[in-house]
Amino acid sequence: MCGIVGYIGGRAAAPILIEGLKRLEYRGYDSSGLAVYHSGIHIVKTAGRLSRLEEKAAQLPPGTAGIGHTRWATHGEPSDANSHPHTDCTGQFAVVHNGIIENYRELIADLKTRGHRFDSETDSEVVPHLLEELWTGDLAETVLKALPRLKGSYALAVMAGARPDELVAVRQDNPLVIGLGAGEYFIASDIPALLAHTRKVIILEDGQLARLTREGVAVLDRTGRAVDARVTEISWDAEAVEKGGYPHYMLKEIFEQPAALRNTLGRYMDRDGGISFPDCRLSPGDLAGIGKISIVACGTAYHAGLLGKHLFESVLRIPTENDLASEFRYRNPILGPDTLLIVISQSGETADTLAAMREGLRRGARVLAVTNVAGSTMAREAPNVIYTAAGPEIAVASTKAYTTQLAVLALLACHVAQALGREQEYFDELRRGLRQVPQLAEGVLAAVEPRVQELGRASTEWRNAFFIGRGLDWAVAQEGALKLKEISYIHAEAYSAGELKHGALALIEEGVPVIGLATQPELLEKTVSNIREAKARGAVVHAITQFPLLLADAADACIELPQLPAALMPLLAVIPTQLLAYYAAAARGLDVDKPRNLAKSVTVE
Ligand code: G6P
Repeated sequence: MCGIVGYIGGRAAAPILIEGLKRLEYRGYDSSGLAVYHSGIHIVKTAGRLSRLEEKAAQLPPGTAGIGHTRWATHGEPSDANSHPHTDCTGQFAVVHNGIIENYRELIADLKTRGHRFDSETDSEVVPHLLEELWTGDLAETVLKALPRLKGSYALAVMAGARPDELVAVRQDNPLVIGLGAGEYFIASDIPALLAHTRKVIILEDGQLARLTREGVAVLDRTGRAVDARVTEISWDAEAVEKGGYPHYMLKEIFEQPAALRNTLGRYMDRDGGISFPDCRLSPGDLAGIGKISIVACGTAYHAGLLGKHLFESVLRIPTENDLASEFRYRNPILGPDTLLIVISQSGETADTLAAMREGLRRGARVLAVTNVAGSTMAREAPNVIYTAAGPEIAVASTKAYTTQLAVLALLACHVAQALGREQEYFDELRRGLRQVPQLAEGVLAAVEPRVQELGRASTEWRNAFFIGRGLDWAVAQEGALKLKEISYIHAEAYSAGELKHGALALIEEGVPVIGLATQPELLEKTVSNIREAKARGAVVHAITQFPLLLADAADACIELPQLPAALMPLLAVIPTQLLAYYAAAARGLDVDKPRNLAKSVTVE
């Protein structure tokens, strides 16, 4: 899971490539490299952060064509040698790769028998050696000849010393976009890397190859035939992907939630509460024929999916299951034409979620994707799509994608209820509640931030934390604990409050912090008892609740929320947990937006 950039035009390539890589660091950032053409190919690469590459790039001769890469190691440790670009024995080809070449061992063994020498432990290095072997004098033709030899997934950008005025990019199961400027052209794994230069892009399809020169871009299919590629105009502006005055993207994205929710709700719900999804073609008849719903996702998106089960099963009485995408395919799930498979993914590129979606399609299920990225693999392959209108999310820890995913699931449940003619009163109230959410979220952000910031500072003493709750509060507890551990590195566990006494209570001792979520009226009494159990063992309990009076003597402190229908409380209750994770990480001086060992977009299984 890596980021790729490329540039060909009239300006110095290296600074443009480095700027582009900075926008892609969320895809991985343990090493990076550049190749530019200046009377031959010149490469610099290094393990570590991009700042090290920037220093090294100062040695590069000026060149107006080049490719670059930021890496998140899969095959071979992060090291200078394993960084991309990789080259062949003659140094004539430079290649950057995102994905996995599954048959690389066989290819290496075969290439070695013909004298090829390999410098890295990566799968990617086979590509330049194959190009060296198959070279016809035409770069696009040579790349097309090499592709049938590669098994696996890839996005590749390639340059050849013998073809200084040309770059080639090709994709299979990994994202790649081509930016169209005036007399200059760009390659990138994702749109934010291009926005400083152009908003006109071609989103490459699987199996398509783009040939970039200073005169223009030609898109070819696998057989080398020219394809009429569609040019898309991107509406996000460059400023939307900048930090906008916040110290970190994560904090900016937390505060963007009211706007992201407003945009998402406004896109699908009209003034009278009517709901429609333009990219979802499931008719009321299709919805009425659904016997079972499977919701599949990874990480934060999985936690969002837990609200779906509550609404579809507990309220609408449609049997619903939640699965982690990495488990789903391997448990031989029951899927058929009466199953609605809902896959949720911010990026639309997560390998496990994509694989689950393809399995669903193969087995004839109806498939609906909820994603944030138009043009992503998931958006293109799913027959039905609902977009979260969260805008670009850069911080590795997902925040605004989560709340907009919750909003989409609530809207979808309202829509299904309408189609089935069920629980109208409940869903009318839910719709009214949804309208209030953006403004209430704004209020919560303003009201709780100072308190939570203080708690974040105090958390430098914490070694463990527990998040407890029942029902939907347990779902939020899981997301809160994930957020805290992924960016502050404090060990955090989410526990169903009622389950605490079956094990984890043994870990509660004097001073252990417990975040008690208590927003579900029907479960409140029981949750309060569980909070008392923890407190009695010495826990310091911070309750997140809209019922502070009921929690007053059970908890040490309350973070107060406004009232909404119970099913929508996760949209507000998660906010203090996001801020807590942020301020705990910031207080520890950690790299909030790029936590160690993690990447934003996980395109390997
Ligand atoms: C990674 C990210 C998480 C994200 C998960 C699923 O682990 O760090 O923030 O929730 O992938 O990503 P997706 O793009 O499919 O929502």
